[in-house]
Amino acid sequence: MDAKIGLIRGDGIGPEIVTEAKKVLDRVCAKYGHTFHYEELLLGGASIDAYGVPLTDETIEAAKTCDAVLMGSIGGDAKTSPWYKLEPSKRPEAGLLGIRKALGLFANLRPAKLYMELRDACPLHDRVIPNGFDLIIVRELTGGLYFGERKTFTENGKVTAIDTLKYNEDEIRRIAIRAFDIAEKRRKKVTSVDKANVLDSSRLWRKIVEEVSHDYPDVTLENMLVDNCAMQLVKDPGQFDVVLTENMFGDILSDEASMITGSIGMLSSASLNETKFGLYEPSGGSAPDIAGTGKANPIATILSAAMMLRFSLDLEKEADAVEAAVQQVMTEGYRTFDIMSDGCNKVSTSEMGDAIAERV
Ligand code: IPM
Ligand code: MG
Repeated sequence: MDAKIGLIRGDGIGPEIVTEAKKVLDRVCAKYGHTFHYEELLLGGASIDAYGVPLTDETIEAAKTCDAVLMGSIGGDAKTSPWYKLEPSKRPEAGLLGIRKALGLFANLRPAKLYMELRDACPLHDRVIPNGFDLIIVRELTGGLYFGERKTFTENGKVTAIDTLKYNEDEIRRIAIRAFDIAEKRRKKVTSVDKANVLDSSRLWRKIVEEVSHDYPDVTLENMLVDNCAMQLVKDPGQFDVVLTENMFGDILSDEASMITGSIGMLSSASLNETKFGLYEPSGGSAPDIAGTGKANPIATILSAAMMLRFSLDLEKEADAVEAAVQQVMTEGYRTFDIMSDGCNKVSTSEMGDAIAERV
């Protein structure tokens, strides 16, 4: 097939990890006879450097002409980078939130599974994960606190700040439907995470999710408070199948879920709208401290590219081949520095990309 793919290399380790994912995609194209046309798109700090803003209309329009967009990561060191001297709405992160909103990418899927080979990199005790875990976080991505009204002002002589957490029933319903659809193809359990003992938005969330669950009689719904969920993720992660939650809770819980897989460098992610289009990016950040050192783990980006093959391009067997190649390098003992353990073969970012590409 012919496909057009947008590439957002981004900032920090972004360009390095995207290069490795593209290497793997080139291998997929050569092996399975596809042609991917790439269009480079600027976002975040790279866009600020070029245009003074983290997201331009040109990037949004160009992304819309693509079948999918593969992204590295955006942002810099908040203490030293000039990007963080700009007002908050002009910083790199605002570009990422902006493109998610502009493209309607409301459904963020973040799978977290433990490769048994990475057992030593996982901080959890053996008794906690006798059988590993394999869960997916379905995070609402275009609503809630990150998109509500916010301002900083002075009240009674004190500087005061306010953020707003708002969801309407349609926003909750469409993400709940996604989660149940995914659960039907997995182990048929949805854990909906909220803070319904305190928040009105969570009480509405719970009500709508329960309504949606009636259309999925073979899927079990469990409601869990977010503080308990944070605890359960380190107490017994094997209990989870699909974790459905709102934007900020999902942001926090997905970092926690990534750490128990051994490294945030392992966690892929797909951000989808109502169509086949998606933006695929590792869940981790731009790690400016290790940029250019060859230490970055490209696996999350490579697994994100596999999700792109599966969800946006319908290339199921190609996606399987990439995932199997990742599994194989794990089994053979290739490790970037973040997941290194005794007796394994320590490799750089590009050596890991080569090893995976060769095994596709
Ligand atoms: C993520 C990131 C972003 C988010 C930031 C960079 C805005 O943390 O994708 O999880 O909060 O969504
Ligand atoms: Mg995050």
